[in-house]
Amino acid sequence: MPLELVQGDIARQDVDAVVTAANKQLMGGGGVDGVIHRAAGPDLLRAIRQIGGTPTGTAVITPAFKLAERGNKFVIHAVGPVWHGGKSGEAKLLAGAYCESLKLAAANGCRSVAFPAISTGVYGYPVEKAAPVALQAIQEFLHDHSAMTVRVVLYSAEALRVFERALA
Ligand code: APR
Repeated sequence: MPLELVQGDIARQDVDAVVTAANKQLMGGGGVDGVIHRAAGPDLLRAIRQIGGTPTGTAVITPAFKLAERGNKFVIHAVGPVWHGGKSGEAKLLAGAYCESLKLAAANGCRSVAFPAISTGVYGYPVEKAAPVALQAIQEFLHDHSAMTVRVVLYSAEALRVFERALA
């Protein structure tokens, strides 16, 4: 299956590129970002600080550093939007974060990518609203990149159910 939904930990995925939910300052954070940074080691923070920042709805790519021990080649730092009620262009920005991440993965020769549910934690995007946006962006990309496998890794059983319903 080119699109997989699983429950699990984003830092334990056997894929070429893992995506983290970053902030636009690329300062490192908690949540998914904290998990990825702890697993990849301090060189990851040094690498993104050199990049400096990236706008909401975009992404940057770095080596995976210590995550290479798990087989990951790259970390993609995607910046999703903060939820402001849905009328501030959140859906377009969220789709952009997925789409830009996938383009970076393809441009760097990746065959498999794992995403968390970007923006659905600290940034407050309701999972029910984020799921269809994320899945549509991924499916549009896969339409033109059939060799790529994309896995969405949901932390809770409830979030997995929401994504499964949206996919169905
Ligand atoms: N694996 C997979 N998913 C996880 C994990 C994990 N180990 N830990 C948490 N999650 C889930 C959360 O339950 C949530 O649904 O990832 C989703 C995204 O949550 P956040 O990490 O809070 O990301 P986001 O909402 O995009 O907020 C980004 O948080 O850490 C800061 O610097 C970051 O400012 C940025 C903001």
